[in-house]
Amino acid sequence: MKISTATFAGASSEPGRFPPPTHPEVAFAGRSNVGKSSAINRLLGRRKLARTSNTPGRTQQLNFFALDDRLVFVDLPGYGYARVSQSARAAWRPLVESYLGIRSVLAGVVILVDVRRGPEAEEHQLLDFLATRQLPALLVATKVDKLNRRERERALKALSEVGLPVVPFSAVKGEGVDAVWRTIQEWVRAKTQAGSPPKTGPKATGALPKAPAR
Ligand code: GTP
Ligand code: MG
Repeated sequence: MKISTATFAGASSEPGRFPPPTHPEVAFAGRSNVGKSSAINRLLGRRKLARTSNTPGRTQQLNFFALDDRLVFVDLPGYGYARVSQSARAAWRPLVESYLGIRSVLAGVVILVDVRRGPEAEEHQLLDFLATRQLPALLVATKVDKLNRRERERALKALSEVGLPVVPFSAVKGEGVDAVWRTIQEWVRAKTQAGSPPKTGPKATGALPKAPAR
């Protein structure tokens, strides 16, 4: 899929208060520091659209990026970082679950897992949650550039046991970009064909929290 314009389209840090749904959305979920924002930038060939950071747990809101007039990428706040405040940790679940749970235009969820860690309890919980909503998911194994061939094979084999398609990915080298796009394209096509107009309840159309200066 060729995207020519990608623009920041809003943020949300309050459960249930999201930008009005317009196009099919693809969400990027995963542990803090796993490489969600880097993957989004790499997929779009943009260096700094989604903010990346060496400090895990920085992003605690959902960020929406409009891609042409076709689809929207949603960078979800990362989970599992022990050093964020108690209140930030408590806020994460209702925020992300309300998005994944009610968003009518959600076409699929890319779950990023650090290839060196593999899936842990949080990933399994997330997969269960998506399964109950019957949402398609793709596992993306990030930072494969950090492993040698033998380590990589072992890690990918372990990840394949989850039972979902797995794409080895490197935001640094660009590996996996085409494979992730292929899946996204299928999701968007299926969602577009399903053709239900976006449901706009009073909450979903409510005023957006002001977009932060970026
Ligand atoms: P939060 O927003 O805190 O949840 O993190 P995130 O998942 O968005 O991670 P981010 O993209 O900010 O990347 C975290 C760190 O990992 C940064 O220092 C990136 O440069 C690095 N990184 C991300 N992807 C890769 C990759 O594929 N290979 C390597 N070597 N480093 C990566
Ligand atoms: Mg991020």
